[in-house]
Amino acid sequence: MSGTELAVLNLSGTELAVLYLVAAVLFILSLGGLSNQETARRGNICGIVGMTIALVGTLLHPHVESYWLIGPAILAGAVIGAILAIRVVMTAMPQLVAMLHSFVGLAAVLVGIASYLSPDESVTSGGRAAIMVHEIEIWVGVAVGAITFTGSVIAWGKLRGSISGSPLLLPGRHAINLVMVVAVVVMAFPFVSGEPVHDPMGLTYLLIMTAITFVLGIHLVMAIGGADMPVVVSLLNSYSGWAAAAAGFMLSNDLLIVTGALVGSSGAILSYIMCRAMNRSILNVAFGGFGTGDSTPVEGGEEVQGEAHPIEAAAVCDLLKASKEVIIVPGYGLAVARAQHLVNEMANKLREDGIKVRYAIHPVAGRLPGHMNVLLAEAGVPYDIVLEMDEINADFKHTSVALVIGANDVANPSAETDATSPIYGMPVLKVWNAENVIVLKRSMASGYAGVQNPLFFLDNTHMLFGDAKDSIGQLVSGL
Ligand code: TAP
Repeated sequence: MSGTELAVLNLSGTELAVLYLVAAVLFILSLGGLSNQETARRGNICGIVGMTIALVGTLLHPHVESYWLIGPAILAGAVIGAILAIRVVMTAMPQLVAMLHSFVGLAAVLVGIASYLSPDESVTSGGRAAIMVHEIEIWVGVAVGAITFTGSVIAWGKLRGSISGSPLLLPGRHAINLVMVVAVVVMAFPFVSGEPVHDPMGLTYLLIMTAITFVLGIHLVMAIGGADMPVVVSLLNSYSGWAAAAAGFMLSNDLLIVTGALVGSSGAILSYIMCRAMNRSILNVAFGGFGTGDSTPVEGGEEVQGEAHPIEAAAVCDLLKASKEVIIVPGYGLAVARAQHLVNEMANKLREDGIKVRYAIHPVAGRLPGHMNVLLAEAGVPYDIVLEMDEINADFKHTSVALVIGANDVANPSAETDATSPIYGMPVLKVWNAENVIVLKRSMASGYAGVQNPLFFLDNTHMLFGDAKDSIGQLVSGL
């Protein structure tokens, strides 16, 4: 069955352009929706509908010569994607995202090479200038795609622990990167100024450049420590968008250009926000230690002196019952314990007793952007009592109890007071200002940054040791 055989459904160029416009608007609405939890579900639906329109429209255009190749490819991709997405656990989401970015990068490389080998008629008939522009698009698209592909594969390996999380810091690594970048730029000139099409030398240059950028992607990401990997994944997300936009130029596909630009710019903004929240320099992350040595958290932080004060669940219940206002600070341990439903149950009991309960969310609590918001939404926590750090930080001073559940780094006062701490400068939740702080965790172990937390030793802090689910279960029964 060929594309043209479906004559009734064959779309004209104008009809396809209209469908692409509708899809592009839906993608923009989708991004807008995803910026707020109350509208996130609607945003997701807009994205799904937009992508369906884009795919169906593309498939119904006479450009598609045969469904025998594209049909099985779509089916296989959809089945594999669905299985992976259903199976993935929340904490492994960054790995899945990294893998998906690698596919976008590889697709841009393959589209670039294919588009060089058999350029569209509109390019070949457009004269020398059109061919040169097309070749520049190919060069840029393949370079960005190749870096995205190998960089994402390395990020995926580091995140799942198959590749060591420690940075590979080769001597003169910035010089090595620079040499590779210069080689890519220099080779672009003979590539673009050579014979217009089917030039074997041009293809040789293109393949050599692809190999160099594959190595560049590996080297750039190998030099970045595991702690910065989430920001790297977000940066690679941005690169994958630009690679897709470049593929859109190569294929003269407006929707791919718009979508690529949306992904590229939103990924860049997210990387910037994450860098600020984790107190990392974006240049430092992007170039693996650019300027300041390396980009992993350094050993450091003052030794914490003192004694922690353990507390029993019954005493915490008494404290909670006597309080006017409670702020819950969820962290990675809440996700590990899967205690979100019990936390919601506990909060509802307190609210029924007239106690004001709110949640304070740090931008990098957990292990992926929005991790805590997703967990709380899953448990049915009302959105209006879930507040961002900046909205609630000043309120801890008027709070009877701050309940820190499986959180550590995001409530570490040394980020404000200890200049030698690796997390110094990271904005944190000022839970210590509350009248009482109750920390729920299993031990005195450190969090992601690997530093001790002086909060645990303060006079107004008490430790409720145990798995968060067990501890909250006891509180729910006690209340
Ligand atoms: P962490 O600092 O990682 O602390 C989590 C704490 O949870 C640990 O100290 C652990 O102590 C406790 N815990 C683990 N399992 C538990 C369980 N079953 N029950 C009770 N407690 C448990 O978490 P955080 O405060 O959410 O901070 C996030 C950190 O991850 C930051 O350093 C951030 O920069 C980093 N990071 C964030 C992201 C994003 S985008 N969110 C991505 C990557 C990295 P015990 O072992 O003693 O129980």
